Amino acid sequence: MTRKDILRLLRDPDAEELRKRAEKALLAAKGSHVHVRGLIEFSNICRRNCLYCGLRAQNSALRRYRLSQEEILAAAAGAIAQGADSIVLQSGEGSCDPAWLAEVVAELKKHEGIAITLSVGEGQARDYALWRNAGASRYLIKHETASPALYARLHPGHKLGERIRALLALRDLGYEIGSGFMIGLPGQKLEDLAGDIALCRALRVDMCGAGPFIPQADTPLAGEACGSVALTLRALSVLRLALPWANLPATTALASLDPEKGQTAGLMAGANVLMPSFTPPRAAVQYRIYDHKNRVGMANAVRAIEKAGRSHGLRPR
Ligand code: 5AD
Ligand code: SF4
Repeated sequence: MTRKDILRLLRDPDAEELRKRAEKALLAAKGSHVHVRGLIEFSNICRRNCLYCGLRAQNSALRRYRLSQEEILAAAAGAIAQGADSIVLQSGEGSCDPAWLAEVVAELKKHEGIAITLSVGEGQARDYALWRNAGASRYLIKHETASPALYARLHPGHKLGERIRALLALRDLGYEIGSGFMIGLPGQKLEDLAGDIALCRALRVDMCGAGPFIPQADTPLAGEACGSVALTLRALSVLRLALPWANLPATTALASLDPEKGQTAGLMAGANVLMPSFTPPRAAVQYRIYDHKNRVGMANAVRAIEKAGRSHGLRPR
């Protein structure tokens, strides 16, 4: 499947036909099961200044927090008790001491059969290795946009190549790698989206999270328009056809633009992962990546999976 093929699929006028093809590919490659990850947004501290993100270092309107090790472990235990099969520890970049995070990972590893995923931005190779040795087995680091020009504009002082090299370094250390990108970024073209999907396919990523761009009031992109829900669902279906092996989440951003049906529609378009948040509510309100962020909890996840007619292994309380 070339970038041209991908572009043709993205342009396919029959959205329902595309969705059905993706659903068939999903069931054939991955089955009906939806994986549920417990997301813990343990710190909103970040050293970078991505133009689109409310956690950017220059945003002084945000009260910064970092959960304690005890708070993280308690949140994780709650997620696991409810049937989460993996814990995702997420924060801005450079939010904490690497050795401190390695201790958290090692403690979490005591829960048998639970995979630990890190989503803490670009770091030193020795820290990736430290966390890997502590027991983390997956790493999410979205490429955000595969257009080198758009990437440079949105990430002052950074290049797309560095991002791709980080993904490859993580894979070399034995991590399963997850990338992802935003849909509807200011200045993004459909050709760019085809490039995003082609890049994920070329990298053979294990996971790919694609969600709509949503402006945040305290960022330079505050006045821009949201990404389209319809285009996000279409991109999910094309991702499923282009990367049949991959785990694809229905993102929280999608659920934020369409709280009623977003997650269900994402699953029906080809997604097979949900990531409900177990961040303590007092912290979660400060994890303001974009405006009107929906809080997707375990109950929402169960409802979305059942509405989509799929299966899960959850034990909701
Ligand atoms: N809209 C949608 N997604 C965003 N992210 C950051 N800012 C926004 C936004 N304004 C996503 C990025 C990043 C993750 C932390 O959240 O893809 O990887
Ligand atoms: Fe920091 Fe990630 Fe937000 Fe960029 S997208 S400012 S790296 S939290």
